[in-house]
Amino acid sequence: MPDDTTREAGTGPMAGSGPPLDFQAHLAALEARGLLVRVTRAINKDTELQPLVRWQFAGGIPEDERRAFLFENVIDAKGRRYDIPVALGALAASPRIYALGMGRPVAEIGDTWMRAIARPIPPVTAAEPLCQQVVITGAALREPGGGLARLPVPISTPGFDAAPYLTATLCVTRDPENGIQNMGTYRAGLKATDRLGVRMVARAGGAGGYLHWLKYRERGQPMPIAIALGAPPVVFFTGPQKLAVDTDELAVAGALAGAPIRKTRCVTVDLEVPADAEIVVEGVIDTSVLEPEAPFGESNGYVALEAFNMPMRVTAITHRRNPVFSAIISQVTPSESCVVKKVAYEPMFLAHLRENLQIRGVRRVAMHEPLSNLRPVIFVQLARGTPRTEVWRALHGTATLRADCGKIVIAVSEDIDPENTDAVFWSLAYRSTPAEDVVIVPYRRGVQGSHYGPGRAESTLLVDATQKHAMAPLALPAREYMEGARAIWEELELPPLTARAPWHGYALGDWTNTWERFARRAVAGDWESNGIETAARARGDVTPETPVRRVEKLE
Ligand SMILES: Cc1cc2nc3c(=O)[nH]c(=O)nc-3n(C[C@H](O)[C@H](O)[C@H](O)COP(=O)(O)O)c2cc1C
Repeated sequence: MPDDTTREAGTGPMAGSGPPLDFQAHLAALEARGLLVRVTRAINKDTELQPLVRWQFAGGIPEDERRAFLFENVIDAKGRRYDIPVALGALAASPRIYALGMGRPVAEIGDTWMRAIARPIPPVTAAEPLCQQVVITGAALREPGGGLARLPVPISTPGFDAAPYLTATLCVTRDPENGIQNMGTYRAGLKATDRLGVRMVARAGGAGGYLHWLKYRERGQPMPIAIALGAPPVVFFTGPQKLAVDTDELAVAGALAGAPIRKTRCVTVDLEVPADAEIVVEGVIDTSVLEPEAPFGESNGYVALEAFNMPMRVTAITHRRNPVFSAIISQVTPSESCVVKKVAYEPMFLAHLRENLQIRGVRRVAMHEPLSNLRPVIFVQLARGTPRTEVWRALHGTATLRADCGKIVIAVSEDIDPENTDAVFWSLAYRSTPAEDVVIVPYRRGVQGSHYGPGRAESTLLVDATQKHAMAPLALPAREYMEGARAIWEELELPPLTARAPWHGYALGDWTNTWERFARRAVAGDWESNGIETAARARGDVTPETPVRRVEKLE
């Protein structure tokens, strides 16, 4: 994977020393690397904008070649023109784009998260918050075409969604008991120029904002909420990340940035938001009522059907003088929304298995992305020789860390690339015996998406597809010969290659010195010596296909 992300990635306030601490500086950094497509022709935000970028995920373009889009000439279905451009795919169209936002190479993202969660840096109050250069309150929020209708909010799934939705959100709420703020990425659909329908997952392990809502409702009070859009990428990335309850995301974002994040108090509610966000929508949620919300195309790949969710009355919209509206592309995977979760969740699982459960052999955790959307199917890669009991601890640990992740968990050995489902099937086919290596555990809550069916209780499927005994080598030319041939391929200017493991043969434990000697002689042109040796070992007391080792002791 090309990875040109360096500590010099940013061009914002911390240029040269860390990630961009400004969304527009991030766009500039993307553009400088050829990772931004500017679209200047008119694009209808209701019917064309998301479908155009969808082709990037549905059109066979390799992940590394995905780019962010900046729409500079946005209109709507009624022909209205917007003076605010829309950015889509700028946060996480690919791990490379996400890494640029983090100011770190892709390979360091996991460790960066773990360090930031362990050592947060509290935010500081900004003297001049950029997100409040323009403040809209009162009647201006309610006039036709005013308030939320001034924002170029795209429709994500035209043909199914009931409204334009804010998607790249940071929804800030405060615990009324301990005062600690939470920031989560929750969808918010437009209902009126001054009203949104916000959806916070209401199950065990669900949204932090929902836990706050329960407390305000218990007190009979409305819940203040602020939705920040276009915060610096490191700040946004904390929204979809699953952090422990009562963790202040702004402090974790500070640690990701390596410096305190600038915050500011909202204009109309008692909440603090990232001061350098592009746009902030402030308001209150009446906790005594719920309003039908959705349909909306969900990240699990199905359309979320209408459900009662939280109505938010907007009390202010504040923004920069020249803001960019930031959106995220979700729905069927692969998508921007699953990249943003994958790079953050996988290190969390790895740390759980290695550090909490102390399973030494774990090499990688890979969440399956295309169509299935990360959560249901997870692969755990283990070092060869990991004891079987440890493989099973890893399987159970992966399936139980989160209620909504790991309905199907498959363990593979380290020579199997878990991102390559063909390789995983290969491992299932040759390295697992269903009667011995498959366990079904009952009583699991439904994975997200399955509740659109008849709602039966779920269960968990665990499979040990690791290599359990010595096997003959993989039947491809050994690495040195494949590499030599590749040089010739390139010299002949044949079409460019994308090597996909396995592309060379390697030993899997069952190989003798005799056979190694034969192979070396063969590539040296001395195959006749092998024939002389085997002629001397010919015998008449065996039947065809009798393994030599059954009757001879081989070195
Ligand atoms: C694009 C996107 C949209 C999301 N929409 C929602 C949503 O509508 N409601 C929700 O509860 N979680 C949603 N999530 C998942 C949450 O952001 C995620 O579970 C996060 O950890 C929540 O943070 P919290 O634990 O602080 O609530 C979404 C994630 C992404 C990336």
